[in-house]
Amino acid sequence: MKAIRFHEYGGPEVLRYEDAPKPEPAPGEVLVRVHAAGINPVDWKIRQGYMKAMRPYPLPLIPGWDLSGVVETNGPGATRFQPGDGVYSRPDLGRNGAYAEYIAVREEELAVKPKTLDHLHAAAVPLTALTAWQALFDAGGVTAGQTVLIHAAAGGVGSFAVQLAHWRGARVIGTASARNHEYLKSLGCDQAIDYTTTRFEDVVRDVDMVLDTMSGETRARSWSVIRKGGILVTILGPGPSEEEAASRGVRAALFLVRADAAQLSEIAQLIDAGIVKVHLDAVFPLADAAHAHELSATNRVRGKIVLKVV
Ligand SMILES: NC(=O)c1ccc[n+]([C@@H]2O[C@H](COP(=O)([O-])OP(=O)(O)OC[C@H]3O[C@@H](n4cnc5c(N)ncnc54)[C@H](OP(=O)(O)O)[C@@H]3O)[C@@H](O)[C@H]2O)c1
Repeated sequence: MKAIRFHEYGGPEVLRYEDAPKPEPAPGEVLVRVHAAGINPVDWKIRQGYMKAMRPYPLPLIPGWDLSGVVETNGPGATRFQPGDGVYSRPDLGRNGAYAEYIAVREEELAVKPKTLDHLHAAAVPLTALTAWQALFDAGGVTAGQTVLIHAAAGGVGSFAVQLAHWRGARVIGTASARNHEYLKSLGCDQAIDYTTTRFEDVVRDVDMVLDTMSGETRARSWSVIRKGGILVTILGPGPSEEEAASRGVRAALFLVRADAAQLSEIAQLIDAGIVKVHLDAVFPLADAAHAHELSATNRVRGKIVLKVV
């Protein structure tokens, strides 16, 4: 099969479009014909070798941990899907990914894709929508009537977080440059803050939760806007300082997304009901993954980038 692989860590130029072995589905796995693969910052972080201490990958590696496609065959004992089913997934980050014509995925990591989306849009959903869902509801415990501050609200995670928090009945404040403010309002954001001209801590106070997608200085400045007993949920390590949180009377959690087919099914229902929308910033052919990585690494993407495989 054709795939994008890298044989050594490095810049976008290490990505090679080449022949790779077609995977065999092991027991409990499903072979999926990939139609589209979503791009996420973790893809180029892994390509750069940023995570090699944590995850020593055998190289060459196929990157890409977001996909939409069609079930080709079931491995031994896999029964949840039939050949021809349209599925989407955030497959295991520890294995070969989805920048390829085929991928073998554990069946519990797959869900039926939203019926109202084509594969390009469906591939943009799983990783970031699951991250937003788990950060807001599992880690943050957001409920109706609360106020949430979402950093990088126009990005991949932020775009879903704004919509999901709004759907839950929370008041949503988001940070983005001014060019994204109309976009944020279209997602249900109640207050958009231009981080290039306004320090958010000057205009926000007593929020119930901050979703930290930035770390660094943004996280450091976020403590002061959280109400006593509120929570900062970050999706970037190293984790927040427990002492800092305790000294301010707030809670803090570092959180890493996990595959969850039941949550992916709920997200598909929200999409099919027209409650959650998917914005594509750019689509690249599979062979052009290097340009997709360059665009993602600018940190200026609105919504998502995807690779078209079929
Ligand atoms: N722990 C986990 O499980 C997990 C899961 C998913 C993602 N992540 C990580 O979370 C981070 C965000 O991921 P993502 O996919 O959402 O990234 P992304 O889509 O690349 O984010 C791009 C967005 O960041 C905004 N931005 C840049 N600088 C900003 C600033 N100073 N303040 C506010 N917004 C700013 C940009 O808006 P403007 O163009 O308006 O500036 C742009 O819309 C990445 O580092 C990713 O690796 C972690």
